[in-house]
Amino acid sequence: MGYFKIDGPVSLEGDVEISGAKNASLPVLAASIISDSKVVIKNVPDLLDVRTMIDILRSVGMEVSFNRGTVEISPAASPNTDVPYELVRKMRASFNVLGPLVAKYGTAKVALPGGCSIGVRPVDFHISGLEKMGFEIEIEHGFVIAKKKNVKSARITLPKPSVGATEHLMTTASVLDGIDTVIENAAMEPEIIDLQEFLKELGVEIEGAGTSIIRIKGGVKSKKAQHTIIPDRIEAGTYAIAIAATQGKGRIKNLVPEHLNSLWEFLEEAGVSLKFNENIVEISMDERPSPLNIDVAPYPGFPTDLQPQMMAFLSISRGTSHIRENVFHSRFLHVDELRRMGAKIELSDSVAIIDGVEKLSGAPVNGTDLRATAALVIAAFMAEGSSEIHHVEHIFRGYENIIEKFKNLGGRIEYIEVNEYVD
Ligand code: UD1
Repeated sequence: MGYFKIDGPVSLEGDVEISGAKNASLPVLAASIISDSKVVIKNVPDLLDVRTMIDILRSVGMEVSFNRGTVEISPAASPNTDVPYELVRKMRASFNVLGPLVAKYGTAKVALPGGCSIGVRPVDFHISGLEKMGFEIEIEHGFVIAKKKNVKSARITLPKPSVGATEHLMTTASVLDGIDTVIENAAMEPEIIDLQEFLKELGVEIEGAGTSIIRIKGGVKSKKAQHTIIPDRIEAGTYAIAIAATQGKGRIKNLVPEHLNSLWEFLEEAGVSLKFNENIVEISMDERPSPLNIDVAPYPGFPTDLQPQMMAFLSISRGTSHIRENVFHSRFLHVDELRRMGAKIELSDSVAIIDGVEKLSGAPVNGTDLRATAALVIAAFMAEGSSEIHHVEHIFRGYENIIEKFKNLGGRIEYIEVNEYVD
């Protein structure tokens, strides 16, 4: 347990190399359950969430090694299909092992994920999708117990394009030999295309990822699959916003620029200069941003996972900005913390109204969730004076080598270890 001490203001300048995507690694690791032979996954970032997923695979009985970004996984000799609360509690994405486990082994018991700080995040779409495929589901004492009885071909229409439900149902359907599943109103995020590529490597006939309709003909053909995870677009977006917000100049390397088109449009509208060269984006900014009106939406819309960081950036805009959060309506825990640093932000339903101030001032603040904490780190670099960001451990769930990467950009950031923390 510790906190970040950051001294601002600073103009972040230099190069930053992007790691593999957390949100692609987690579903691909969960999907490795369905393979009958060894799989090798490359470009996996060393993050707490990835470690949690690896712990889950090990608890199932799979043999997993993780070395310099490469994960090697061998199937379980005698699988254990009960996933304890202790592991699901740490990360919602753990729930996505339920379908692959029950589809492959006939039964599975996985703790129901609890609430989380960014708001209510139910798993009803996951459960009703599995039921449509013919699985029997019961919820008892906080656990979901699934049984494979009469699985059948199904057409599932998601009420909303949920990323997790789309991935969970794709992976589950992949196991069901000879059974056709269609997922309609599927989420279209790049991480879903990455998962489809991995499932194809396992021999599954699957198409449509990246569009709203995904078709799966189940059946894993035993193959030694090898897969390389795509770059983390949210990590790339966070550094791009940090450079722009501190009126810096830098290059984001090893990303897929098209994955962030909605961000680039808004940054340009705010006055940021961008140059694209294959998998490198050059960013420079030398003034306070123009105000923006942003509607957060599922991909290809502006990502909810960059909303807090963008709010930090707009807190010093030359006018009034609006951000409407349409994915997680109450994802605004960073607002109070940004206010502590001098930002002027009002909330009205799921809209944040941000009156730009000339500058922020350093303050002690609290990280509340992964992306909110990233926003506070950016704000601390923008602010005059010293900031302490407590509960910073959230950041290690999603940003590989964050201290080193910001130091390379000239950020004055230290992790201060504390033995005892009084809440
Ligand atoms: C994933 C990402 C997370 C990102 C989010 C939205 C991973 C590991 N996490 O989370 O970083 O912020 O997508 O881009 O990839 N919903 C329901 N019922 C369900 C499932 C979802 O009502 O059964 C709702 C949610 O409350 C939310 C919306 O659907 O309002 C979208 O959530 P979803 O796309 O499922 O998010 P996650 O997959 O949990």
